[in-house]
Amino acid sequence: MLNFNKSNENIPIVDEKLKHVAFIMDGNGRWATSRGLVREQGHIQGAKNLRNVLKHCHKLGIKFVTVYAFSTENWGRPESEVKALMKLLDFYLDDCAKDAKENKIRYRLIGDMSVFSDNIKEKIAKLESISDNYEITLNVALNYGGRAEIVHACNELIKQGKTNITEKDISDCIYTHDSPDPDLIVRTGGDLRISNFLLWQSAYSELYFTDVLWPDLSEYDINEAVRNFYSRKRRFGKV
Ligand code: FPP
Repeated sequence: MLNFNKSNENIPIVDEKLKHVAFIMDGNGRWATSRGLVREQGHIQGAKNLRNVLKHCHKLGIKFVTVYAFSTENWGRPESEVKALMKLLDFYLDDCAKDAKENKIRYRLIGDMSVFSDNIKEKIAKLESISDNYEITLNVALNYGGRAEIVHACNELIKQGKTNITEKDISDCIYTHDSPDPDLIVRTGGDLRISNFLLWQSAYSELYFTDVLWPDLSEYDINEAVRNFYSRKRRFGKV
């Protein structure tokens, strides 16, 4: 059953059924072009809204949040847009380091980090280490692809000398090994697909699609997604 905040009946408070919400943050480009702005401005606004969304998720009691910030396919975007996203990442990491303590967020960057500059890699390592003991986890998927993640896990297991791989082995080796599988995946921007995101982890996730563009996703929209989740019956393949 979904409970509500005692002082505000519009705010749902989640329980152990909704530990982990993942977001496909789509629609930044359209948000910008519909306002006559360059696409990069949409990403800046998207990064701002990520903070608001996180704050609200924490208010609702959600313990794990994962966001798709940059996919392995996003390198194929125009060079100027990729450059702008990398610059934004650089600033974003500085900001996160500043507010990790204040908001008690444990940061995890998931994906293949080997392609990033030493400067970015150092910032990531520092952010993960200073925030390691906080309870609320934010996984930021960067240079991430779901298929690549499974291949990476299999190669790790081969390195460990495994010859007979179990599902648990793979779950223990994927980037999100220390987060539960997502209960709910929300995609903004109107497209109805999963785009190579959390392929292993999403086996039994509930999917929620909204036309709202990521920079516009509001507290109200998140509450709607949570209400919708609680109206579903999860059977995990049983009757
Ligand atoms: C998809 O929208 C969004 C992205 C590829 C980037 C998401 C990034 C952020 C929300 C900012 C945070 C970023 C970092 C690096 C921390 P789109 O560009 O595909 O939008 P469109 O479908 O309208 O074109």
